[in-house]
Amino acid sequence: MNENKKIPQHVAIIMDGNGRWAKQRGKDRSEGHFAGMMALRDTVKAAAEMGVKYLTVYAFSTENWGRPQAEVEALMQLVCKGVEMNTPELRERGVRVEVIGARERFSSEVNAALDRIISSTASGQRMTLVLALNYSSRSELTAAVQRLARRVAEGEIRAEQIDEQMISQSLYTASMPDPDLIIRTSGECRLSNFLMWQASYAEFYFTPTLWPDFGEEQLREAVEAFGARDRRYGLVK
Ligand code: FPP
Repeated sequence: MNENKKIPQHVAIIMDGNGRWAKQRGKDRSEGHFAGMMALRDTVKAAAEMGVKYLTVYAFSTENWGRPQAEVEALMQLVCKGVEMNTPELRERGVRVEVIGARERFSSEVNAALDRIISSTASGQRMTLVLALNYSSRSELTAAVQRLARRVAEGEIRAEQIDEQMISQSLYTASMPDPDLIIRTSGECRLSNFLMWQASYAEFYFTPTLWPDFGEEQLREAVEAFGARDRRYGLVK
């Protein structure tokens, strides 16, 4: 956290409401997701300009595979299109892209697109954009428990040595600071299996704005609300 300007170091967003945005306009849900990608572009630009260092977005949850096949397919295509459309600008702006989630379930085409955007933005220093794709907190924690259990079984560590830091280091987010501010759009007020461990001391901001209508102005409002919060971390002032 940058204490002077009260800019959160890490903002995480649950981008919700693309479907409702499309429905209100008599459009297909996939058009809502495309508009959502455009909102993400604006938000990335605004966050980088504000001095946010990490922006994590929930782009596809492990539960989203259960949506109609055509919608899942549209979202996969959008990932490929998003890579193609946005890589040059991200490079120019010094934004590095990372992915969290179980990538093995994606097609080789999607994984190749993700590899492309990760490698071509790897030198970005200004901000890290973290795409949560086929991500869920419970599966992330389950995988971490399995990894640690294996290390115990192999005699590499003792069970008593497992501490909070070791668990944090076993998550996809090992190299990142915890989120300071978690934003959810579209009026829903829940975490939906997103960064549950990492959100322990995050401030939450819920807005009725549907994700495709989110952008610089709405991000500024959220950051301003964050700046007015009194973060005590369980302590007394
Ligand atoms: C939730 O809205 C949104 C998603 C499941 C997809 C989010 C994806 C984007 C914003 C596009 C970003 C793209 C890339 C390439 C990272 P919803 O469909 O649940 O909306 P609803 O609740 O109104 O139905």
